[in-house]
Amino acid sequence: MKAASRGTSVLKSGAKRLLRRTGFDIVRSTNVQGGVDDFIPFEATMRAARAAGLSIGDHIDAVMNGTPGATQSTIDELRALGVFAADPKTVLEIGPGSGRYLEKTMKECSPGRYEIYETAAPWAGYLVDTFGVVAQPTEGSSLAPTPDGSVDLVQAHKVFNTVTFLVAVRYFFEMARVTRPGGRIVFDVMTETCLDPATVGVWAERGGSGHGSFPAALPRRTCVDLFATLGCELEAGFTAPMGVASTEVLVFAKKA
Ligand SMILES: C[S@@+](CC[C@H](N)C(=O)[O-])C[C@H]1O[C@@H](n2cnc3c(N)ncnc32)[C@H](O)[C@@H]1O
Repeated sequence: MKAASRGTSVLKSGAKRLLRRTGFDIVRSTNVQGGVDDFIPFEATMRAARAAGLSIGDHIDAVMNGTPGATQSTIDELRALGVFAADPKTVLEIGPGSGRYLEKTMKECSPGRYEIYETAAPWAGYLVDTFGVVAQPTEGSSLAPTPDGSVDLVQAHKVFNTVTFLVAVRYFFEMARVTRPGGRIVFDVMTETCLDPATVGVWAERGGSGHGSFPAALPRRTCVDLFATLGCELEAGFTAPMGVASTEVLVFAKKA
């Protein structure tokens, strides 16, 4: 093997290890978008979960990420904050991937309509077939097919730390637009809460090859101030495991 191609191969295997830690294995996608979602783990992840006798979500948490119960723990926090007690009838999720949060959200409430925006076509198809959700045309940073003020709960988990700043903030404007007055917006970002110097050191040492956008950071203040200008107040924040460290889940309420 030539030195250059050996270097590329090392980078690729580093990227694979990194993506596995975020919940994914790498298989070439049928949906070419660029960035981390250029590679979709659908078949491989399904096979591995089946072989382990686990649901896909539990397989990702326990086996791929080494954080058993992590998804359920976020859902438990959201329940404690009253997010599901509001009985959301319409839910919208950006980047549901395997559906590990989607499945548990559906157990917490009974939305009559659950829209997804997912760039990975195989996963989107699987979620439509398995959970009866509505896959909206996904352009990459817009929720244009969803009308203003029509959604009770808008959520995204482990998405905004895998995309660029511009994709994230364009989605933020859209999330505020589609949420109905009184509705909730839930998403996580790797904020300064998650980035003390020791943790930055851990990311630098063990965070993988640095391939793609993961893990992208966004200032907490930027998110809170932006959503405030869009009529959405921060209600709560808590950390959840991500990769070699953590991410911060933010919960906003749109003013009634
Ligand atoms: C790290 S995965 C997280 C998946 C899932 N939320 C979870 O936590 O298991 C990021 C997901 O976002 C999707 N994604 C990436 N860019 C996107 C975009 N611009 N719009 C919608 N989904 C996107 C990817 O295909 C992938 O399913």
